[in-house]
Amino acid sequence: MLKVCVLGATGLVGQRFIQCLWGHPWFRLTGVLASERSAGKRYGEVGKWCLDREMPPAVRRMKVGKVGDLEVDADVVFSALPADVAREVEPRYAAAGYTVCSNASAYRMEEDVPLLIPEVNPDHLGLLEAQRKRRRWKGALITNPNCTTVFLAMALAPLRPFGIEEVAVSTMQALSGAGYGGVPGMAIADNVLPYIGKEEEKVESEPRKILGTLRNGRVQPAGFDIRASCHRVPVIDGHTESILVRLSGKPSLDRVRRAWESFESIGTPTAPERPIVVRDEMDRPQPRMDRDAGRGMTVSVGRVARKGPWLRLLALGHNTIRGAAGASVLNAELMVNQGYLKR
Ligand SMILES: NC(=O)c1ccc[n+]([C@@H]2O[C@H](COP(=O)([O-])OP(=O)(O)OC[C@H]3O[C@@H](n4cnc5c(N)ncnc54)[C@H](OP(=O)(O)O)[C@@H]3O)[C@@H](O)[C@H]2O)c1
Repeated sequence: MLKVCVLGATGLVGQRFIQCLWGHPWFRLTGVLASERSAGKRYGEVGKWCLDREMPPAVRRMKVGKVGDLEVDADVVFSALPADVAREVEPRYAAAGYTVCSNASAYRMEEDVPLLIPEVNPDHLGLLEAQRKRRRWKGALITNPNCTTVFLAMALAPLRPFGIEEVAVSTMQALSGAGYGGVPGMAIADNVLPYIGKEEEKVESEPRKILGTLRNGRVQPAGFDIRASCHRVPVIDGHTESILVRLSGKPSLDRVRRAWESFESIGTPTAPERPIVVRDEMDRPQPRMDRDAGRGMTVSVGRVARKGPWLRLLALGHNTIRGAAGASVLNAELMVNQGYLKR
């Protein structure tokens, strides 16, 4: 077993990490760390648990460590920290020899940091060679994308052979995407918020890196433009995205469907058997019905149609599982599979 700990373990993504890691056949959770507000308490006393399943009793009894303590009993450090904290802390863990798998946006777009979706761009782990040379860390830092980016990039990846020319996406994003203290109830009940800080910039840039080509130790971003409009809606978990894609080829809808359905699993413990499922019903996907597909790791695609020169689709995924903690755990599993992490 590899020993792992979680930074930001008390937050919404941190709790999902505990869910994804508890009983994991390759990883053993040995530490939970958070801010000084929580450090020193038992995890069960922190009182932020939001999942609709029981906290594992052994985790309840774990003492919360303080983020920044570099003496952790772990090989891998999963990070669910706010970006400003991650920017300062994550390199210190990487320099100290830990493999850091981060959810935060702080280093995603750095040219020597892999931004990974294992089914889409596993070869980008090759950036770690440049990272080692440039940073001289004893460990490493890899990242997973913004939650909204994950579902968009997964829906687009199988369409690459048809020549993606332009993408427009309009999102309906869940409350849990904003973190535990995120959106005040009075702002979101009976409402839609038409702006999410810094979100559109991430959704417009990250998929181009993920769908880019690794050549001579650098990623050449994919050449198409993405325009995003991001909105917060009163849904607890599950982001829905209405996507328009202009393709240079003219594949039939049947071929497009086959491309999504033949998208392969990487076959590790957290990987879903089917990374993408296509729904034919006119009223699917929906957050309540589809966010837990593949234990929260499958992206559901539906409402597929031609709209003039555009292909229109809806993509939906679980933002704190496939869009966050599950994505990070899957990245670590990919590193094991490719020999970057030894069990
Ligand atoms: N929610 C999502 O769907 C989602 C998806 C993808 C990526 N992300 C990213 O994942 C990260 C965590 O998101 P979240 O939704 O879990 O946020 P959250 O619920 O606000 O949790 C934040 C965590 O960070 C800790 N923390 C906050 N300030 C700290 C400080 N100054 N020093 C040390 N620890 C500190 C908190 O500890 P205390 O409890 O002690 O305050 C808590 O454990 C963010 O970077 C976010 O952008 C989130």
